Amino acid sequence: MQRIYFDNAATTSLDPSVLEAMMPYLTEKFGNPSSIYSYGRESRLAIENARKSVAKILNAHPAEIFFTSGGTESSNTIITAAIRDLGCKHIISSPIEHHATLHSVEYLHHNDEIKLSFVKVLPSGHIDLEDLEKLLADSEERSLVTLMHANNEIGNLLDLHAVGDLCQKYNAIFHSDTVQTVGHYPFDLRNTPVHFITGAGHKFHGPKGVGILYINENVKIKPYIHGGSQERNMRAGTENLYGIVGFAKALEIATANYEKDSAYIKDLKTYMKEQLQKNFSGLSFNGDVDGRSLYTVLNVSFPKNEKSEMILFNLDINHICVSGGSACTSGVDIGSHVIRAINNNPNQVPVRFSFSKHNTKEEVDAVVEKLKGLV
Ligand SMILES: Cc1ncc(COP(=O)(O)O)c(C=O)c1O
Repeated sequence: MQRIYFDNAATTSLDPSVLEAMMPYLTEKFGNPSSIYSYGRESRLAIENARKSVAKILNAHPAEIFFTSGGTESSNTIITAAIRDLGCKHIISSPIEHHATLHSVEYLHHNDEIKLSFVKVLPSGHIDLEDLEKLLADSEERSLVTLMHANNEIGNLLDLHAVGDLCQKYNAIFHSDTVQTVGHYPFDLRNTPVHFITGAGHKFHGPKGVGILYINENVKIKPYIHGGSQERNMRAGTENLYGIVGFAKALEIATANYEKDSAYIKDLKTYMKEQLQKNFSGLSFNGDVDGRSLYTVLNVSFPKNEKSEMILFNLDINHICVSGGSACTSGVDIGSHVIRAINNNPNQVPVRFSFSKHNTKEEVDAVVEKLKGLV
């Protein structure tokens, strides 16, 4: 049986054209970008061209783009730097962030005694901006606000401008985990009031293990990883040359096809929602599914019973890949912290379907048909 992959918020397949662009750097063009002879210069040029391309797409300056190993490293770098270098003594975040953020801020809170506040989350899954303003206004210390752009479990989109404006008003630093939106959303960083954003290549048909960190030119931080002078002294270690080339190529493809692909994927999400509503009773959708929501993610809760409790397991047996929360790294299923924060109903089983341009309505039909026997 053919596998159906509806877990594109966890990771996506590598685009063959991306692999093609990477291949020379996995084979004959292997020079160390720091070497001064021609082999090295060729690699350096590939990295700088990738940086220019990424910066142009995001409407940033190339000097504001740094390549890293992915979203986790990028977020760790800036959260640590905001405390160490930018005078932030108070972190304001939310209980629905990805663990890359949550576990970083909790670590700093417990080990460095940094004040940590969680902004209220509304039942829609959106951040309560009034509560955010109150937290900022009441803060006696400079704050770091770290709030994700699109939630990887429910798809809700944050209003970057509204949050950025509040941060400016209260002289706070603003970081947004944009891992789910880089490659899926038209950024205009020069006109967006944000100090830092992050991205990961594997979320938009690029390679795994490569990402970016955008550092607005008006903020200066020190590196997180120490060593050589790579990435203009901001991120030591021999560059992931083929990964960086692949990241830029994947972003170029995603950007060129954004209108077409986003409309297609949005249509699939709507179709799946309608088919679920038509065929099942007692469902509820998590997040602002018809409002400010990323077109790739659909999160639905089924009523809990003996059958539905086993839904993820049974879908897996039937070669259907979906997830109950974010990609589970520990192997221990303790449920989703995001769903718990917005809708703590123990009698429901949440399932996340997340789509890509490779999915089809026929696959949606097949999954809905299979679900009929499983819940
Ligand atoms: C919202 C979000 N932030 C951060 C990450 C971590 O990115 P990476 O796996 O590239 O470190 C992910 C990926 O799972 C994510 O979805």
